Amino acid sequence: MSKYIINNDDRAPELKGAVKVQGSKNGALPLIAAAALTDGEVVLKNCPDILDIENMLRIFESLGGKSERRGKELRLKMEYMNSAEISSALAGELRSSVFMLGAILSRVRQATVAYPGGCDIGLRPIDLHLKAFREMGVKIRDKYGFIRCDASNTHAADIDLDYPSVGATENVMMLAAGTPGVTTVKNAAREPEIAALQKLINLMGGHISGAGTSIVRIEGSDKFRGAETAVDFDRIVAGTYMTAVTLCGGEVMFEGADGEQLTALISKLKDTGAEIICSDKGIKISSSGNPKAVGSVETGAYPGFPTDLQAPFGALAAASSGSTVIIENIFETRFKYLAELTKMGASVKVKDRVAVLNGKRLCGAEVKAMDLRGGAALMVAGLKASGVTVIENARHIARGYEAPEEVLGALGANIVKV
Ligand code: EPZ
Repeated sequence: MSKYIINNDDRAPELKGAVKVQGSKNGALPLIAAAALTDGEVVLKNCPDILDIENMLRIFESLGGKSERRGKELRLKMEYMNSAEISSALAGELRSSVFMLGAILSRVRQATVAYPGGCDIGLRPIDLHLKAFREMGVKIRDKYGFIRCDASNTHAADIDLDYPSVGATENVMMLAAGTPGVTTVKNAAREPEIAALQKLINLMGGHISGAGTSIVRIEGSDKFRGAETAVDFDRIVAGTYMTAVTLCGGEVMFEGADGEQLTALISKLKDTGAEIICSDKGIKISSSGNPKAVGSVETGAYPGFPTDLQAPFGALAAASSGSTVIIENIFETRFKYLAELTKMGASVKVKDRVAVLNGKRLCGAEVKAMDLRGGAALMVAGLKASGVTVIENARHIARGYEAPEEVLGALGANIVKV
């Protein structure tokens, strides 16, 4: 089992230099699903080379698709969908396997998908996905751990999501794209990944508008062609490393990062005393390495403070001067990393979805990544902690971060993966 070792024997180095931010995991995953809408070739440029993408490609290929990676470019082709079933083994590996449902139903009108189940950060229900599909006429039998869908008589509908779910918005967009008539999704998610999916489907011959607002309108098309698009920068990876620079001090230019997609984080990092300049080249952040506590952080749907940056920000708060209240509104068990931070000397109190952190000097320790972003938080904390930090279960971090040891090492950190 691989692990990261961060060695700050004498002192935690400042981070200096430039990072070309990797492509977005959460941007690329639905684009791979959308490639199943057509028998033509779909090319995704700037696609990150990470475990979750590998697992999504295994699902894509299990349905009959072909994929070929040329560096950061992914060539996808589902000439024939010769299976419409996603096994529990594959669905269990990747929760976003459920994003394939809309595309499969759009293409072949039948699908059997194993319940993706929960993961390390919560129950992860899919009731909003299924409720919307039923409103579009999909017949669904969900029992024995499988969801069997018959979409032979789907129709357009006006969907009103109870919560602006990213996955449910994306799934409905893909089913509605291949369903005659005009479907609207109200209370749609507004994440940048929704606009990226709209852009690709429209390049493939679809007619979608409104992505980025809370009302998305999808006019069904009966045929899709191949297309090419570039995956946007990963705002969560960029945000993670920005918290690391704020904590360790130094100056880093995040090339290709769009500050407009990180306004909530940038506002909080400025409150800690970091200086941040956004331009069309990217985001430049400089910090003294003595961040002040910001009082409170509350996660919310985009453009609110991203739940995916709650853990990295918690690591920053754990070593900032003063106390910080963190409220996690999205997922019910996204504080597991805090128990690991206490091994490094963090002073933490947790009750339900509220954590209070009193900033302390952190010391290296042997800690365990329990999930993707919690693991990233331990990496951020280890970059600042004195002494040696060993992070077990590195595979959790590898699900979403491309070679963090190379990225951070190039900025001056003493980190290796073994
Ligand atoms: C996407 O997950 C992201 N994953 C998550 O990133 C991200 O944390 C989340 O959106 C919120 O921004 C991908 O894009 C692959 P949701 P998703 O549906 O679509 C509840 C990471 O670390 N809900 O917006 O699964 C749900 O329980 C991952 O990169 C229902 O109740 O998130 C949660 O409380 C983690 N019923 C809230 O909505 C449903 O049918 C937000 O979930 C669906 C969701």
